[in-house]
Amino acid sequence: MTQENQERWNAVDRFITDILVRDDEALTAALASSDAAGLPAIAVAPNQGKLLYLLAQLQGARTVLEIGTLGGYSTIWLARALPEEGRLISLEYNPAHAEVARANLAHAGLDKITEVRTGAALEILPKLAAEPGAGPFDLIFIDADKENNRRYVEWALKLSRPGSVIIVDNAVRGGAVVDADNTHPAIVGTREMYELVAREPRLNATAVQTVGTKGYDGLLVARVVA
Ligand code: SAH
Ligand code: DHB
Ligand code: MG
Repeated sequence: MTQENQERWNAVDRFITDILVRDDEALTAALASSDAAGLPAIAVAPNQGKLLYLLAQLQGARTVLEIGTLGGYSTIWLARALPEEGRLISLEYNPAHAEVARANLAHAGLDKITEVRTGAALEILPKLAAEPGAGPFDLIFIDADKENNRRYVEWALKLSRPGSVIIVDNAVRGGAVVDADNTHPAIVGTREMYELVAREPRLNATAVQTVGTKGYDGLLVARVVA
């Protein structure tokens, strides 16, 4: 992508965010404290966070599972879509990230309905599935290590019900997703994820390409049909 394209995408994201999203104090503070703690600046963009929030509301979600918390920025957006008795569980490998996220969620007044579990998601997910009453989740947001995306969708299916929504971030990766000979684990994992979604009769899905402050990427959205 050219520098010129990226600048235009940034300007349009700023336009959309200024006019429609209106990031507030808790969200701004979450990004500031993430930055101060040295976390990478890879949270969803504000307009994407609001899309997650709207999708969770449209879904009438009461329970959300997130895989990949970082500093809790997307977590705040998703948790805000939930009713008072809602519940969100977010999985984070890095204990330092989880700690920052917990503080951000508390600052946002969301600590009662959210829980950040620390560890490798593939180790936590089987335990979660064995817990009575842990699922099914109405919405599952997958945004962790991309090489495991296929396995995360498999777990999402186990932890869902007909009507659940599964959203996968970073589904295009600058267009690299079409490169069948790309051996980067993130690309291989993402392509395997598409193949699983495509052949899984319980999923009905699409993906869209996105441009913006996060560059050229995309989002996959699937609905559990049966
Ligand atoms: N959803 C966040 C961004 C997540 S970035 C937001 O939009 O605000 C990806 C996160 O996944 C990082 O914090 C990284 O530490 C975490 N991660 C990487 N591998 C993981 C794994 N195996 N299990 C759980 N989390 C993992
Ligand atoms: C990266 C991870 C993300 O989840 C994202 O949205 C953007 C970039 C990364 O690991 O580089
Ligand atoms: Mg992401």
